[in-house]
Amino acid sequence: MARPARRTAPSRNRIGVLISGRGSNLLAILDRIERGDLEATVSVVIANEPDAPGLAAARARGVETVVIDHRASATREDHDGRMAEVLEARRVRLVCLAGYMRLLSPWFVRRFQGRILNIHPSLLPAFPGTGAQKAALDHGVKLSGCTVHFVDEGVDSGPIILQEPVRVQDDDTPESLAARILKQEHEAYGRAIALYFSGRLRVVGRRVLGTAQAAPAAVGRRLRRR
Ligand code: GRF
Repeated sequence: MARPARRTAPSRNRIGVLISGRGSNLLAILDRIERGDLEATVSVVIANEPDAPGLAAARARGVETVVIDHRASATREDHDGRMAEVLEARRVRLVCLAGYMRLLSPWFVRRFQGRILNIHPSLLPAFPGTGAQKAALDHGVKLSGCTVHFVDEGVDSGPIILQEPVRVQDDDTPESLAARILKQEHEAYGRAIALYFSGRLRVVGRRVLGTAQAAPAAVGRRLRRR
């Protein structure tokens, strides 16, 4: 039987995704697009690691992939310049970092000013950087979660678009907590991208306005099930 035609998104909603590894957030974004819940196209996936498992997963879904190994560039800016060339040639409007494990140069951040999103496995500003789930456990917090934010020149420090909480359990290990947070990441990233393309977001200082968050009572009900 012929496969149903995929929904074609307008070119203004073109996304470039940067990865370094597994790529489960990338796949969740592709799933959301395929379900028809996100009017967008992933035009290209760029990995700085040639062996990133997310590359094969993207190719299997028919998405163009490009490897730009950071070790082949003399400086961070040179590497980022090569990524920018690829992204601009595909006319991407939004750059999504999905497990991209390198800092971006200030040059790149300025070039795509207000057009780069990242997802992080903690409730920022708590526990930026790598190892966020272990840091949350070591600190003894009772609530962690994930954050989707705009990227600025700092580490996980840009204006926050949305956050989803996850309760810490007594028997949690960094791995078990990471797995529950990851489930929320897969939902949150697509929602944040949809909000971005809705054109309703306004950044006022550190605040991102126009993000409809669930009412506190609804958050409480959902949390009891996580
Ligand atoms: C996720 O936990 C994300 O929040 C962090 O890196 C991890 C990437 O996972 N930035 P994946 O490659 O999307 O599976």
